[in-house]
Amino acid sequence: MPIVTSTEMFRKAYEGGYAIGAFNVNNMEIIQGITEAAAECRSPIILQVSAGARKYAKHVYLMKLIEAAEADTGLPICVHLDHGESFEVCRSCIDGGFTSVMFDGSKYDFEENIKLTAEVVKYAHDRGVVVEGELGKLAGIEDDVNVSEEDANFTHPDEVEEFVTRTGVDSLAIAIGTSHGAYKFKPGVKPRLRFDILEEVGKRLPDFPIVLHGASSVVPEYVDTINSNGGNMPDAIGIPEDMLRQAAKMAVCKINIDSDLRLAMTAGVRAHLNAHPEDFDPRKYLTPGRDNIRNLVRHKICEVLGSDNKI
Ligand code: G3H
Ligand code: 13P
Ligand code: ZN
Repeated sequence: MPIVTSTEMFRKAYEGGYAIGAFNVNNMEIIQGITEAAAECRSPIILQVSAGARKYAKHVYLMKLIEAAEADTGLPICVHLDHGESFEVCRSCIDGGFTSVMFDGSKYDFEENIKLTAEVVKYAHDRGVVVEGELGKLAGIEDDVNVSEEDANFTHPDEVEEFVTRTGVDSLAIAIGTSHGAYKFKPGVKPRLRFDILEEVGKRLPDFPIVLHGASSVVPEYVDTINSNGGNMPDAIGIPEDMLRQAAKMAVCKINIDSDLRLAMTAGVRAHLNAHPEDFDPRKYLTPGRDNIRNLVRHKICEVLGSDNKI
């Protein structure tokens, strides 16, 4: 199976009431952990690469590692640019073999977001690549807010049809109360997502795939392991998995997960080095990190997203 776009994955996910996991990749162990789990579960998968990942590992290394994972597993893999900030970075990823790019115009006003996104769509579609746009704004961890109180940042359902029609995007990321990172809700505040907005967006855009960023659950087991092995993470609170199950049954076809992978990897490495302080072989301490990623992704696919046995 070659590297594919997300078109077919999303069509089936929409019809089947499940979601495809979009996992961020930065190195070989992360790519192996994710794709080995997806292969075991017979699940299509999206591997997404941020600007930071391209800077860290270099585009060509990540692309070649993903091609190796595809050759190793035979999986349908979509390679996606996460949070493309400019036309240039999107073009570079399209020219460099990605099958999907996100143009994140959420920081611009509505008209500018449409204009810039449409330029990326034109370049991408001419080359068989699909595009994710974004409307609404996720809060960052640095904002230190409970985003469910920040109504001004949520996607306005009355804007989505015009945005999709005028840009031609293939999928749309919306803001309903998730946020990036490990600290999504203030301690003591009950996590809440605006499912009413998601429902309304679904009505305005029938059969259209919606994307949820900032969807890590911040698995407590990994935070505990990190903290009991020399780490010092304050109260880390993520999106309850039941909410992700609910979103996957609705119009959400792509669920973005990065922080949970970071926690899984770090927990494995910390626990190993704490138990074996004499160890200095990266293969020994990266193996439990990769194992944790495989277990985490298997759990997400089979118990949360519902994309298992779909290939
Ligand atoms: O949404 C952001 C992703 O978690 C990527 O994070 O830019 O630190 O690679 P990064
Ligand atoms: P998390 O930080 O919740 O994993 O979100 C990742 C993401 O949205 C990548 O685009
Ligand atoms: Zn994101």
